Amino acid sequence: MQITVDLSRLLNELEKLASFSDAPAPAVTRVVFSAQDLAARAYLRELFSEAALEWRTDAVGNTFARWTGADPKLAAVGTGSHTDAVPHAGRYDGTVGVLGGLEAIRALQRGGFRPRRSIELLVFTSEEPTLFGIGCLGSRLLSATLSPESARQLKDRGGKSLEEILRQAGMNGSLENVPLAKDYYQAFVELHIEQGPLLERKEIPIGIVTAIAAPATLRVKIEGAGGHAGGMLMPDRHDAFLAAAEIALAVESAAKDTKSIDSVATTGVCNVFPGAVNSVPSRTVLEIDVRDTDLARRDGMLSAIRSACEAVVAKRQVRVEIELINADAPAQASPLITEALAVSCEELGVGSMRMVSRAYHDSLFISRIAPTGMVFIPCRNGYSHRPDEYASPENIDRGVQVLAHTLARLAQ
Ligand code: GLV
Ligand code: MN
Ligand code: MN
Repeated sequence: MQITVDLSRLLNELEKLASFSDAPAPAVTRVVFSAQDLAARAYLRELFSEAALEWRTDAVGNTFARWTGADPKLAAVGTGSHTDAVPHAGRYDGTVGVLGGLEAIRALQRGGFRPRRSIELLVFTSEEPTLFGIGCLGSRLLSATLSPESARQLKDRGGKSLEEILRQAGMNGSLENVPLAKDYYQAFVELHIEQGPLLERKEIPIGIVTAIAAPATLRVKIEGAGGHAGGMLMPDRHDAFLAAAEIALAVESAAKDTKSIDSVATTGVCNVFPGAVNSVPSRTVLEIDVRDTDLARRDGMLSAIRSACEAVVAKRQVRVEIELINADAPAQASPLITEALAVSCEELGVGSMRMVSRAYHDSLFISRIAPTGMVFIPCRNGYSHRPDEYASPENIDRGVQVLAHTLARLAQ
């Protein structure tokens, strides 16, 4: 089958999507349920209608756009990713899997392909943890990893509940209806930029993901004693930020001490209260991201961080409260998908290598309800979550080709 990607259209759509942003270009900030995110969703729905896809949105805003197959009763073949972007990010994270997935469907339509199974593009809500502190909100609910009850407890940083935010965004459905049946998808394939340097360094254009690393998040609240930055004597201080700084250094050590390249730990949020230059910090909140391909080693890092917190409490006479936001198991890709991707690469004469995903993706959770796999394309210097994130047109083209061939094979 001849499949031709309309690359200039796809690049234009990526550019247009990037314009829905709360940060000036080239940076992209598109936090879930912000006005920009809602406008971007409306733009996508227009594109879905143009491609004659039937779309629907569930109660948490996951959007499904379906190309109905000749046998609509069969379980569908799914593809997709997310379009929310962390603050000061780039334009390719998630969006390549959404617009690239759409272009794969359109290329198959143009090529005269008639799928037996329906092919469905899924845009996940809130893959990024920016608003609620937890990533993959949409896919956690779809896979029943997160119960509607627990989701209702979620609050944004301003204390607004998920349900309140959904209502304001015009979404009034019941969260109970979000989980998908286990036979909803026959297969699911997500296209994504690698977000690491390996494909580029090895000059290999396609990564076939075999596993997704196990992520965990901690929120650590440190309560010290505030006061006047001039008047409060140094021996009398219980500076909450300095306690937090020691914890952040311990987070780095926890990852380095495993001596494994697969262990990573990051303190990405540090909120200091009251945040005045002439006040000693009385309270500090850290958010800590810990990941490893090996679950036991990941949990070892979490224990090391907890021990470090205890040591800081004793040393600095502060109070520390540790909240475990999530601690997920790793996921294995389904051989059904990795094989289908490998055959597509062979057919297209495109080099590929098998690799793990150190970043998490909605596929981590979809793999609990469907045979799932991922295809990676290189991104320059491995950069992601920064404005200079970049994937070349050639690599995007190849990724969409591989995806389209794979969707066709799985849907036949
Ligand atoms: C997704 O953006 C991740 O943090 O891995
Ligand atoms: Mn991301
Ligand atoms: Mn992503």
